[in-house]
Amino acid sequence: MNEVLEQLYARKSVRAFEDREISKEDKRTILEAAIMAPSAGNQQLYTILDITDPDKRVRLSQTCDNQPFIAKARMVLIFCADCQKWRDAFEAADCEPRRPGAGDLLLAIEDAVIAAQNAVTAAWSLGIGSCYIGDIMENCEIHRKLLGLPEYVFPAAMLVFGYPTKQQAERKKPERAELGYIVHENTYRHMEPEELQRMFDKQTGEKEYRDWMQAFCRRKYNSDFSREMTRSARAYLKEFEEHPAGAGDCSQPPLLSR
Ligand SMILES: Cc1cc2nc3c(=O)[nH]c(=O)nc-3n(C[C@H](O)[C@H](O)[C@H](O)COP(=O)(O)O)c2cc1C
Repeated sequence: MNEVLEQLYARKSVRAFEDREISKEDKRTILEAAIMAPSAGNQQLYTILDITDPDKRVRLSQTCDNQPFIAKARMVLIFCADCQKWRDAFEAADCEPRRPGAGDLLLAIEDAVIAAQNAVTAAWSLGIGSCYIGDIMENCEIHRKLLGLPEYVFPAAMLVFGYPTKQQAERKKPERAELGYIVHENTYRHMEPEELQRMFDKQTGEKEYRDWMQAFCRRKYNSDFSREMTRSARAYLKEFEEHPAGAGDCSQPPLLSR
């Protein structure tokens, strides 16, 4: 296995950090690596918020489903899908841009998350661990205010970084479902309950499948944080979907394709 593959296989999330700063040089290297990621039309449809204010980190550790390790991280980055800056630039150059829609948002989210993953990989290569925090998508109203997010900016991914503690470095990486369940050839294939059960074999361990699945569903999918994420995402989406029809409207397909 070459070094890149070795690192991709070895990387795992880190949630407890050593008492050691990330140097300015390493931080810059991670950020530079992030922006080397591909982006749609090289537009870099994202803005990275570097959260250096300790009070903001503490607040985020509360608003992101109360995860105290966020406040203890040595670097906190929020990758925002940014449909605002191009719109502002288009307007300033009298381009008469339409209002951004759901497609623009999804494209910008792709750009933002791809850049975030570059940061994860770059950090790991420097011995620095990281963890995504999906809960940044929650609490739209609070996060908009806390981070000063304008209308067409959505916090797509949050990452916390730091040097792993010994325990974290030695922690076993969680198992993955085997490739055969993940890769479908040419068309999507619905899996029968028996196959789905086999897919989770490595994760259920000693536990009865049904019990494991019910506990997981309760803890994650049906949880309060998950419901809040959907509510909050809808509030962000509203800006992209609900706007007055007219010249700037992109909710209707172009005339030719109707
Ligand atoms: C989009 C996304 C959101 C996540 N959110 C959280 C989170 O809020 N808290 C947390 O502790 N881990 C979070 N994780 C980390 C996952 O739990 C972790 O990636 C997964 O269990 C696989 O483990 P590994 O990263 O160690 O391979 C998130 C990961 C992703 C990709």
